[in-house]
Amino acid sequence: MPETCDFTVFGGTGDLALRKLLPALYMRDHEGQLPPDTRIIAVSHSDLDDAAYRLQVRAALAEHLAPGVLREDVLERLLARLHHVTLDFSDPDGWHLFHGLLKDRPSYDETVRVYYLAVAPRMFGQVCERLDEIGAVDEHARVVMEKPIGHDLESARAVNESVGRVFEERQIFRIDHYLGKESVQNLLVTRFANTFLEPLWNSSWVDHVQITVAESLGVGSRGGYYDQAGALRDMVQNHLLQLLCLVAMEPPTYVDRETVRDEKLKVLQALKPMTPEVIDRDTVRGRYDAGQVDGEVVASYDDEVGAGSRTETFVALKTEVQNWRWAGVPFYLRTGKRMDRRASEIVVVFKRPPHSMFPQAEGVTTPNRLHILVQPDEGMRLHLTAKEPGPGGYRLRPVSLDLAYATAFDQRLPDAYERLLMDVMKGNPTLFMRRDEVEAAWAWAEPVLHRWASTPEQPLGYPAGTAGPTAAAALLERDGRTWQELDS
Ligand code: BG6
Repeated sequence: MPETCDFTVFGGTGDLALRKLLPALYMRDHEGQLPPDTRIIAVSHSDLDDAAYRLQVRAALAEHLAPGVLREDVLERLLARLHHVTLDFSDPDGWHLFHGLLKDRPSYDETVRVYYLAVAPRMFGQVCERLDEIGAVDEHARVVMEKPIGHDLESARAVNESVGRVFEERQIFRIDHYLGKESVQNLLVTRFANTFLEPLWNSSWVDHVQITVAESLGVGSRGGYYDQAGALRDMVQNHLLQLLCLVAMEPPTYVDRETVRDEKLKVLQALKPMTPEVIDRDTVRGRYDAGQVDGEVVASYDDEVGAGSRTETFVALKTEVQNWRWAGVPFYLRTGKRMDRRASEIVVVFKRPPHSMFPQAEGVTTPNRLHILVQPDEGMRLHLTAKEPGPGGYRLRPVSLDLAYATAFDQRLPDAYERLLMDVMKGNPTLFMRRDEVEAAWAWAEPVLHRWASTPEQPLGYPAGTAGPTAAAALLERDGRTWQELDS
């Protein structure tokens, strides 16, 4: 159990707080993991007292928790922890009132204070400065930042600088919620708590790696943010690169707050630089047109956010990790909105056997592949070739070894935020991005953004409900490969 905590959410009435953070805190309370005198303090501009905020949270939990989970006794306990502070960030008196609330507890000196910045990133620096001015930052304080951390390298550095003036790096928790997903954490365990994979996990045996994060949803109500960001900033620079790091990293000697992040950083630094030639040849960007998703007609991106945008909602690209282990192994990444399904998967495609003893297998079998199913149904599937039973000689067939978390573990899989919020309260930053990682990821991605911005070309259109522009398939076909059928 973590130490007693005052968990403050700046932006406490916002979508993230109500849809993700409070349900995650509820679930942890449900499991008995919040210390009894933990308080949750929501800060926002809204003119709400505690009672009105509690009503809002009650409704949000009813909407966002899984059916059948809500228990009245746990709900009452959680609601009793909640306070709301109405704060205009430019009003010094408001800040002092807020600090008064923090101090109004018996164990102030032993209490961990978490400040979760669920507000626009341009406010990050200002909130941190005010916290410092009122004396609310000491060795017990931690700050949590949601992405986007900047929109390019320079702005990311500026955010990191401004927060870093107030908090030490060990107190800063930059969330990439993909790192809290069970199947993503299991990647480390699969690779490094077993022996059979690691000898094969290199350029001698791996032909290439594919990482897909496909979403069927469009941008919905987030058009304002998304149109300034696009898929490269929103998904590739963070989530997909983090997945790539976990696939490609070297084994750390042990798992602690720095070792895993040191190894991920080395991967980011080894990514093949995105020069103009590489970008023109190895990246594809798309934007969804109208189409059908799950049998429903859906609007085009232009219709949702307004015509004239040059923002991409789909990216496919090829990169390499230029080090001894991975030299020459392509990593193909793709992500998009309004694709034919919601599925996130990492596929490691192994080389074919060096000699074919079974000529009849030609064209029947596929190379061995390990599919790591990130969502919607977490698991792993190893594709092999087997002999079809029967006396008629060697008839070969593709088969698979399956691990589905739902059946292998008889327990609920927690949401990524549940794990990450507990880690913040316990002070464990292993699953959070360190400043140098964020900046290395921007340093790699930024030339792509500049190149795209400098060309008159528009992203390629693709009908909603498909696998993206045909050029994404061509990116692999050119190398004699195809995107693997997803198992999810
Ligand atoms: C967020 C992006 O970080 O991740 C969203 O800003 C995206 O655009 C979301 O939809 C995807 O997360 P998940 O967990 O639903 O795959």
